[in-house]
Amino acid sequence: MRISIFGLGYVGAVSLACLARDGHKVIGVDVEPAKLALIRGGKTPVVEEGMVDLMAKVVSNGNVSVTSDVREAVLDSEISLICVGTPSAPNGSQDQSAMLRLAHDIGRVMRDKPTPHVFVFRSTLVPGTVEDVLRPIVERESGKKDGVGFHLCFQPEFLREGSSIKDYDKPPFTVVGASSDAPIELLKRLFGHLPCEFYSTSIRAAEMVKYCCNNFHALKITFANETARVCEAMGVDPFAVMDLLCKDRQLNISPAYLKPGFAFGGSCLPKDLRATLHFAKMRDVELPMLSGILGSNRVHIDHAINKVLASGERRIGMIGLSFKTGTDDLRESPLVLMAEHFIGKGLSLSVYDPEVHLSQLLGANRRFIEQHLPHIGSMIRGDIETVIAESGLLVVGIAPLGVRDALERLVRPDQVVVDLVNLPNAASIKGRYEGLCW
Ligand SMILES: NC(=O)c1ccc[n+]([C@@H]2O[C@H](COP(=O)([O-])OP(=O)(O)OC[C@H]3O[C@@H](n4cnc5c(N)ncnc54)[C@H](O)[C@@H]3O)[C@@H](O)[C@H]2O)c1
Repeated sequence: MRISIFGLGYVGAVSLACLARDGHKVIGVDVEPAKLALIRGGKTPVVEEGMVDLMAKVVSNGNVSVTSDVREAVLDSEISLICVGTPSAPNGSQDQSAMLRLAHDIGRVMRDKPTPHVFVFRSTLVPGTVEDVLRPIVERESGKKDGVGFHLCFQPEFLREGSSIKDYDKPPFTVVGASSDAPIELLKRLFGHLPCEFYSTSIRAAEMVKYCCNNFHALKITFANETARVCEAMGVDPFAVMDLLCKDRQLNISPAYLKPGFAFGGSCLPKDLRATLHFAKMRDVELPMLSGILGSNRVHIDHAINKVLASGERRIGMIGLSFKTGTDDLRESPLVLMAEHFIGKGLSLSVYDPEVHLSQLLGANRRFIEQHLPHIGSMIRGDIETVIAESGLLVVGIAPLGVRDALERLVRPDQVVVDLVNLPNAASIKGRYEGLCW
């Protein structure tokens, strides 16, 4: 394939060398003449393991050329990988100035290019940038439509500095965000041989997944480091602890707890987190990330409360009261906090939870509900049908077997359903359906 690469920094230079090594004809483009001169001389513009030898080889093979001329590069290639820098601006926003200038330039060239061209944005971009910012520029400057005269798509880059050739050859996965099949097929030809899964998605999701991956990595590092600081203060070996934590592939290093849904609660997580923060504080250990978790969880509960209040409905039905499906434990249940709030606002409330039988609640569980919802007895209903019939808005907080089917059968078109648990096939429910954040 004839490929042009815009931006010859860490991402662009490594991609150029690896694609040339794999037999493609690659044209590198940069605005810095020094980088072009280095590559022209068979040298690498970035310090990366393996790049010195690889660059010398691919340049001497004649598979690589460089230019500062956007026109020449686009006209001489069928696909462009765009890897220009998108650094932080002083206020933390993304500085997209290089990308905007380039979009303008490639649009002008596409005005004169008779054959279609695929532009693959590989720089990290704020979600929505390709469709809302770059597409209008390229369409305006070219006088052509995305999907007809050219194709824009987004493929996040996952290589890491220091091991970027290895990461290029073995990425965690390939993700392509596109709005038509043509760029996906072309990118399968280019990257489909790599030993990883190939996923296609929307352009926005592909833009977002890059941020989420980086944020998750930052979160993991910070978790390990906060854990190490608190371990040190407690006289515990942090490596022994983290090694064991990583051995649990069921709940820890796994997709468990990584699905969007409702806030956590119950008798363990909030209490143990509070105790950790306390024993760390007693030893003057600061844990800003762990300290932020309960506040973030509260924001999630408030978000659900606000969603219900914003509907204007005054007859609220709650399906679920315990902290998760399949238990009668009400302690620190976010659904109890929601119910408390609705009562405080003077809304009428009816509740169905198949596991919660007031006469059977004992000990701390009973004390918790008596303290937070003293009149719970008058709100509890014995079946889901009554709650659905009585309510203008239904909060679905748990999803035991049968709940979705009951909603599908009984919800009327004038009712609102606020789904906190991401019910499957929710589209078949007749009321106005709203997820918590989706
Ligand atoms: N560095 C990484 O490990 C890494 C990993 C994944 C994703 N990314 C993302 O990839 C993008 C590039 O990162 P990088 O580290 O390679 O950046 P970099 O700063 O090393 O390189 C960017 C290059 O783009 C060039 N450039 C600027 N404007 C240009 C234009 N109009 N035409 C051609 N070239 C132009 C610059 O001269 C520079 O050589 C960023 O969005 C970054 O967030 C980086």
